[in-house]
Amino acid sequence: MKCTVCREPALIDLRRHNAAFCGEHHSRFCRDQVQRAIDDFDMFAPDARVLVAVSGGKDSLALWHLLKALGYDAHGLYLGLGIGEYSDASRDHVLAFTDAHDVPLVEIDLLDTFGYDIPTGAQASRRTPCSACGLSKRHLFDSAALDGGFDVLATGHNLDDEAAVLFGNVLHWQTEYLARQQPVLPAGAGFPRKVKPLVRLSEREMAAYCIINGIDYQVDECPMSAGNRHLAYKEALNGIESRSPGSKADFYFGFLRSAADVFQTATDDGSEPVPCETCGAPCSGGRCAFCRLVERAGGEPTMVRVDAPTRRSDQGGPT
Ligand code: AMP
Ligand code: FES
Ligand code: ZN
Ligand code: ZN
Repeated sequence: MKCTVCREPALIDLRRHNAAFCGEHHSRFCRDQVQRAIDDFDMFAPDARVLVAVSGGKDSLALWHLLKALGYDAHGLYLGLGIGEYSDASRDHVLAFTDAHDVPLVEIDLLDTFGYDIPTGAQASRRTPCSACGLSKRHLFDSAALDGGFDVLATGHNLDDEAAVLFGNVLHWQTEYLARQQPVLPAGAGFPRKVKPLVRLSEREMAAYCIINGIDYQVDECPMSAGNRHLAYKEALNGIESRSPGSKADFYFGFLRSAADVFQTATDDGSEPVPCETCGAPCSGGRCAFCRLVERAGGEPTMVRVDAPTRRSDQGGPT
């Protein structure tokens, strides 16, 4: 197998693109795909300050590396979730990356800052660990991006992730989730702009990018997400993709092109969020779900936020 561009031996074949690449041209392909996603979806401007949520896994570290390679001002955000050895190892991978590439990192440890970790938070709030974890991440991603004055918060969700979530949302007709399933969520009252620049790249392509570029990442899956339904959706889609390359991308981008708008219009009830009594984050009234989780877990829901409208106008709009 030869590289489609230079005819040197190829390291990876990409059946859905009918191509194969050597290391150098695979890296170039990944940079082009990220830049194309940023441009096609108006994610952010060339001079934007980007906060990249990094878990220590392949996707988010590759994303940080790619954004730096494309010349963006990209800072990292790592949340210490307190999931035993898994979190310790994840943090080690993030710190090894920051040392190797001399890039700025914002670190928030749940236990040190709020007095709880994911296992205790999940138990106390009678949520599944993934639900307590997802709630904590969403809240802290938002507040870290706004408090740090970043223009945009980027996550490492790739094409496989987005197609699997879409598959689950369609399977169960979760119309509200379908309305929010976009590679860009605009800034709103108290929310930062959020983007997923890896939507044009697959899990396998990201793993190859990391290996080619010497990025040492956390390979293990989170021990608390075993049995997560998305893993089954990914397997189902992988079966279809192997028989019919390009199906995943058709499914996801076809949805964005032809169906996403329908769900947005249908679920817009016009209600405006109000600030949480404790932290100021937008919620439907009283205390937000994050503050309630922290309190039930015996922690301190602190960090009163700067009022949202000021920060929103400071943020600048979409590109
Ligand atoms: P997951 O929800 O684990 O599938 O992760 C989705 C994305 O969330 C990753 O690609 C990262 O961008 C971000 N993320 C996950 N875990 C963390 C973490 N502990 N700290 C910062 N960002 C994270
Ligand atoms: Fe959140 Fe595993 S990373 S529950
Ligand atoms: Zn080549
Ligand atoms: Zn709150």
